[in-house]
Amino acid sequence: MEKTYLEKIKETAEFIKSNVGTMPKIGIILGTGLGDLVNHIDIDKELEYKDIPNFPISTVEGHSGKLIFGRLGGKYIVAMQGRFHYYEGYDMKQVTFPVRVMKQFGVETLFVSNAAGGMNKEFVVGDVMVITDHINLFPENPLRGKNYEELGPRFPAMTEPYSLSMIEMADNIAKEQNIRLMHGVYVGTPGPTFETPAEYEYFRIIGGDAVGMSTVPEVIVANHADMKVFGVSVITDLGGKDIKEVPSHEEVQKAAIKAQPVMTQIIKNMLERL
Ligand code: HPA
Repeated sequence: MEKTYLEKIKETAEFIKSNVGTMPKIGIILGTGLGDLVNHIDIDKELEYKDIPNFPISTVEGHSGKLIFGRLGGKYIVAMQGRFHYYEGYDMKQVTFPVRVMKQFGVETLFVSNAAGGMNKEFVVGDVMVITDHINLFPENPLRGKNYEELGPRFPAMTEPYSLSMIEMADNIAKEQNIRLMHGVYVGTPGPTFETPAEYEYFRIIGGDAVGMSTVPEVIVANHADMKVFGVSVITDLGGKDIKEVPSHEEVQKAAIKAQPVMTQIIKNMLERL
């Protein structure tokens, strides 16, 4: 008989536990912009996604797939190098499966990062934006369908989707180190198209500051699972009716790489203070 989602989560968590000595309480999803963080991890163990039972396999250009266990900022952490995007064709349960597994083996705090297009008129390319809230515009919620009470409540509150104390911590670090750190609301869309000028405008009017094709599903599941979340976006391009530049995957990667040192600095310092 086909295993249930809950059985798969437990089986995968058990596999990881039996392959890794220490289980971390902190997880990091290394999206675009945080790739360089890997070079700062004192690596203890790596597991390729293809060797982990029930794990989907990452396909998108610029993302490789493995779980990395090790020390960063004095803390034992697990980092996901490569995430699963809805636009790749994965369903929401697959996109969020790693978050479920992390929670199952003991992760309580989740860091997420991404590249995003800015609609806030004060933003410039290369800005780093702490995500203070999000708007879910994916066509589906990852919690749709059977709810396993063991994983979280049927109707979870989303009143503090991103931890206020962690946002404050990031702000303090930025102030101490003279880092320009923006705040904003992340709009999560299915992609893979970038937005039309009217869509960027619409997202700004409804309260968005940046838009991207990831993060929201993982953050919904993390909240369902009662995890603390910190999210950060690199603004890799700007959109709106007065903006003529055409965003491309290459431009996004280039801008994200430039912002990496700042992103890395903030996350490392936050880990030291947790
Ligand atoms: N839109 C959607 N996703 C993105 C963008 C954008 O402008 N930039 C980087 N990821």
